[in-house]
Amino acid sequence: MNLVRLIYASHKTEFWNDLELGKLLESAQRFNKAKNLTGMLYFNRKYFLQCIEGQRDDVSALYSEIVKDKRHRDVQILAFEEIDEREMEHWNMCYLPDSQVTQSMVLKYTNGTDFDPFSMTGRGALNFMLNASRQLKASQRDVAEKPAGH
Ligand SMILES: Cc1cc2nc3c(=O)[nH]c(=O)nc-3n(C[C@H](O)[C@H](O)[C@H](O)COP(=O)(O)O)c2cc1C
Repeated sequence: MNLVRLIYASHKTEFWNDLELGKLLESAQRFNKAKNLTGMLYFNRKYFLQCIEGQRDDVSALYSEIVKDKRHRDVQILAFEEIDEREMEHWNMCYLPDSQVTQSMVLKYTNGTDFDPFSMTGRGALNFMLNASRQLKASQRDVAEKPAGH
């Protein structure tokens, strides 16, 4: 098996509709699960940043579908590498809501305070997503651990 990780950035187009996000995630999660693909998608209402991990032919086939999708444009690969292990083994496609991303996180990985994935390095983009997913897990734990009625 040849495990790879691909990270790309893109810009939403006029064909994107925020209301479709739920449907897109549901079908992506179903498809990715069937192919043992794992990863994350971050969307800040302007740009997409996605990481996909899995077997090389499956990642390549999915990427060639995604790149044709009219709902985004300027799809640019930030990283494509062979990996010995996955970082996102718990998620077929984890959605990172913008609420998990603070200004200091953006500043840490980009050259400004406005999130712009095109100014990130591949490694920076990966670390950004892992950082955001840790925040997401911590916030979900906080909610789960709150006693009922509080
Ligand atoms: C930003 C973005 C990310 C996407 N990620 C995935 C994904 O992880 N998995 C998936 O199956 N489809 C994903 N899609 C949807 C595919 O582009 C495409 O719609 C899907 O493969 C179904 O293609 P079909 O309608 O030709 O069958 C994504 C689309 C966009 C715009």
